[in-house]
Amino acid sequence: MSNSGSIVVWTDSPGQTRELAARLGQRLKPGDFVALIGPLGSGKTCFVQGLATGLRVEGNVTSPTFIIMRYHPGQPALCHADAYRIGGADELEDIGISDFLDSAVVAVEWAERVRELWPAEVITVQIDQTNDARVITISGRGKRWQQIRAELEQ
Ligand SMILES: Nc1ncnc2c1ncn2[C@@H]1O[C@H](COP(=O)(O)OP(=O)(O)O)[C@@H](O)[C@H]1O
Ligand SMILES: [Mg+2]
Repeated sequence: MSNSGSIVVWTDSPGQTRELAARLGQRLKPGDFVALIGPLGSGKTCFVQGLATGLRVEGNVTSPTFIIMRYHPGQPALCHADAYRIGGADELEDIGISDFLDSAVVAVEWAERVRELWPAEVITVQIDQTNDARVITISGRGKRWQQIRAELEQ
């Protein structure tokens, strides 16, 4: 399961993807930034639904592609953004994402399009599609990820 600092998990259904994400969500704290990378329909929104379950935040998680960003109150809160339709990081900054970077867990779909927003410590979730299965690679840089990885591997 573990390979040079990454956790790689195959899932066969949206439910399995949500379950994995919930295990991660349970361990997240305000200030954690989850960068989701993967093609359209790979399961990024599905993964964030699982994060929300693990965090126990309020409200249904649906794709924020058209509204760009949605805030789910909770302890901690979840800020869910989607960079698919925007021109760049400044558009997320214009709608106030910076206000949440310290106070909420932030999950961004298409995060590779807004690299400028990534804090020094980040958790990346890369989803690859092979037929009906998904290969989900969770990795990160910084102390927070080392801590979370150790907990996930227990
Ligand atoms: N193992 C899996 N994990 C996640 N989603 C899956 C899986 N298998 C099939 N799916 C389907 O793939 C789609 C993922 O959609 P979504 O989460 O909106 O993707 P994205 O946000 O990456 O565009 C859903 O229709 C879901 O039912
Ligand atoms: Mg999506």
